[in-house]
Amino acid sequence: MNYHNSRFLLNKRPKGMPEDECWALDTETITDLNHNEILIQSEYLSIDPYMRGKMNDSLSYTPPLKIGEVMVGESVGRVIESKSKNYAVGDLVTVHQGWQTYIRTKDSDPSILKVPESKFNSSIFLGTLGMPGRTAYFGLNYVGKPQPGETLVVSAASGAVGGVVGQLGKQMGCKVIGIAGGPEKSKFVSEELKFDQCIDYKNENVVEKLSEFCPDGIDVYFENVGGEITKMISKFLNKGARVPICGFISKYNSTNIAGEETPFHVLSTLNPKPRHRFFVVTEWLNKFEETTYILHDHMNRGEIKTRESITQGFENAPQALRDVLSGRNFGKQLIKIK
Ligand SMILES: NC(=O)c1ccc[n+]([C@@H]2O[C@H](COP(=O)([O-])OP(=O)(O)OC[C@H]3O[C@@H](n4cnc5c(N)ncnc54)[C@H](OP(=O)(O)O)[C@@H]3O)[C@@H](O)[C@H]2O)c1
Repeated sequence: MNYHNSRFLLNKRPKGMPEDECWALDTETITDLNHNEILIQSEYLSIDPYMRGKMNDSLSYTPPLKIGEVMVGESVGRVIESKSKNYAVGDLVTVHQGWQTYIRTKDSDPSILKVPESKFNSSIFLGTLGMPGRTAYFGLNYVGKPQPGETLVVSAASGAVGGVVGQLGKQMGCKVIGIAGGPEKSKFVSEELKFDQCIDYKNENVVEKLSEFCPDGIDVYFENVGGEITKMISKFLNKGARVPICGFISKYNSTNIAGEETPFHVLSTLNPKPRHRFFVVTEWLNKFEETTYILHDHMNRGEIKTRESITQGFENAPQALRDVLSGRNFGKQLIKIK
């Protein structure tokens, strides 16, 4: 049977917020599979902040996308045809092969992960039980290293990574303060995710609220946003504080990202200097599977809650990325394809 794959190709490099013209929506017919190939039908596509950096003509975590290449991204879907002895029709997998509705790939593709048996919807394996959840776990445990009784502050606290960081921090016995944009997100973080407090940075005085909520200073700051928030947090960092730099989304649309002041620059000028470094989730590839199970157990026990922003329709992926880059998402941003 012939399938028609819709895919977004990078058409033009963005200046600032990526406009629709930055992508071209293309269709290809998928012909018969070769030996050791599988065909996956995407159910959900993950939309993530790092995608913006891949559209620039500069090195971010990895080399940039070339014009004409399929837009980068991860999906979850079912194997619908298989010429591989490793994958059967019906297997649920995550795969990192870009913005596509059907994914034809070799069974040796290292980005494919089989999704474990679960009561949760498949979309969770792109969020809390996927890359963002693992990012939260690795950054907090291996870079932040919080101790019981310490104060942990998390920015973009209602988001895919931040929400998991704060809930793990509570499990570890920390006092956890979130920072989020707007009253609705802030209420969700404190009431649903059970952080001790959340500061609405769009409507509240962050420095005043930090003075009130962190009388003993900050021991770990999990950095997701950069910019002014980093500078305000800096004033409260204790001697020996740790700052896992996960990202700095406030600058991702900059027309001169290489010239931007990053959290690393800001933190390096402090005295005493906190222990701080950029980290990337792929530093712990060998721990992906076991960490997925750990997070799965937390979810099964109701210790980690999650929220998703699901946009219907593959053609709306560009708008969903703009939503993430401007805070219009509320929780893990996904596109429902099938
Ligand atoms: N190092 C790694 O391996 C790795 C892996 C995954 C993600 N990350 C990073 O982790 C961070 C969070 O990613 P996520 O997937 O969890 O996204 P997310 O938090 O679900 O969504 C992004 C959020 O960032 C906030 N935001 C957007 N524009 C902003 C701005 N100009 N200033 C301040 N905040 C802004 C918004 O929250 P508010 O409405 O609350 O402002 C928005 O909802 C990003 O920096 C991302 O690059 C890093």
